[in-house]
Amino acid sequence: MRAELTSSGVIADTVPFSSAKGFGHADLIGVCKSLASNSFIATENLSCEQTHLTKEGESAVSVGSPEAVVFSLVPEQGIGQDELNKVAGAAAKAGLAKAMQSKWLAVEKVDGAKIVKRAVGSITDTIQQQLKDVSVSGSAAALAPADLAVLKKRGLLSVVTVKSLKVSKGAAFDSWGIKAVADLTHEMLTKGTWKEQVFKPLNLEAEGKPPTGGSLHPLMKVKAMFREIFLECGFEEMQTQQYVESSFWNFDALFQPQQHPARDAHDTFFIKTPAEAPTVPAEYLERVKRTHEVGGEGLADEFASKSRGWRYDWSEAESRKNLLRTHTTAASSRTLYQIAEKMRAGGEFKPQKYFSIDRVFRNEALDATHLAEFHQVEGFIIDRNLSLGNLMGTIADFYRRLGDEFADLKFKPTYNPYTEPSMEFHAYHAGLGKWVEVGNSGVFRPEMLRPMGFPEDVSVIAWGMSLERPTMIKYGFKNIRDLFGHKIDLNLVRTHPIVRWT
Ligand code: PHE
Repeated sequence: MRAELTSSGVIADTVPFSSAKGFGHADLIGVCKSLASNSFIATENLSCEQTHLTKEGESAVSVGSPEAVVFSLVPEQGIGQDELNKVAGAAAKAGLAKAMQSKWLAVEKVDGAKIVKRAVGSITDTIQQQLKDVSVSGSAAALAPADLAVLKKRGLLSVVTVKSLKVSKGAAFDSWGIKAVADLTHEMLTKGTWKEQVFKPLNLEAEGKPPTGGSLHPLMKVKAMFREIFLECGFEEMQTQQYVESSFWNFDALFQPQQHPARDAHDTFFIKTPAEAPTVPAEYLERVKRTHEVGGEGLADEFASKSRGWRYDWSEAESRKNLLRTHTTAASSRTLYQIAEKMRAGGEFKPQKYFSIDRVFRNEALDATHLAEFHQVEGFIIDRNLSLGNLMGTIADFYRRLGDEFADLKFKPTYNPYTEPSMEFHAYHAGLGKWVEVGNSGVFRPEMLRPMGFPEDVSVIAWGMSLERPTMIKYGFKNIRDLFGHKIDLNLVRTHPIVRWT
């Protein structure tokens, strides 16, 4: 090959070259690829279509097309179809059908027997002629496309694409035979041998190897981003290790009545062992009980006229029932109680901001946007005289920091037993083409804050939002079950583009 290139500079096509030299074409291609990787030669891909006659095609060239063979076997006076089938052998079936289609032959019934007769005096076997032309020229170029299609369909011709290479001298042609090296070494530099060395060209198009190091699950990555945003805005993180909660902190402390449907086993996973929480602060329990039953009635301040409670007999046993927390608002009620306790013990009130991101559990039917175990992003701000405007501003600001996908946020009034007013917020999922609820919020009711011991002018704005849904919106997941749960593809942790970002 070297001699060939040195004299002519180019090998126009490896197919004729390999047959002239007696090389196998596939072997020659292998050699070319290896030489090209060292830039000794340069290659260009070629492809051409080659036409071959099949076994049936060859036979039609020598004896005629099946229909012409059958025609020639029909004598002037006609022949019984059964007999014709016998004498025509392999050509019989297709040949007779084609000859009848071309109106060369016709079948008549004479005394119940089928007789095949000639319908024309003589015929021209165009199929045979076309195949002869192809076999002589070695190409189907002269055939009309429709004729070529017929020959292919009848299995008389086959067309194959042959891939080959055009070969010319490469950048390192003159170093042919010298092994090129990939790396410049310290030794080559100190001894000066790099001057004689041939180096492999750099392939700047090559893809890097995927790093083998560990990476965070996409959801944990987004959790880290959320956390970062809260920390930047001066929020402190709440304690959320308590997956098992008492109904007291999950519901009662939040002024959620004991008959509320969310406290049903259809919505909540209750715990069998241990079924009951041991202790709840006694004084606080008493105040929560009284607020559920009669609100502020009998108190000597403005709360007396503000709330009449739910008016039922509150059960301590019910409040002790253990469950898997249904929302991280249970962590907010515990945190707020602790803040109130410090205040009651004489500590000075200071505005504070808290957040948490952790798992919650609901006895739900699973679908593309619901899981029974998922993550909630919870937060509250406690200060004097906070309003709904503060709440909406805080949430809009959070989503603005999260990304442009959330530029359109919609607020919608809703109801929670523990907030008044209450607002859901919705974001647009471009992939699903619809608005999805991403969170719920509100201003905590005095029936929640007063039993804890907060004064009248202290207010708390709060929210609970999904971690999974904004992640789906931001990274185009259409099904929550592809993101989190026991069915996810673990490769996601290594291959999803999000996990590459720091
Ligand atoms: N706990 C509510 C939920 O799970 C969210 C919420 C938190 C609403 C705080 C208002 C205030 O949907």
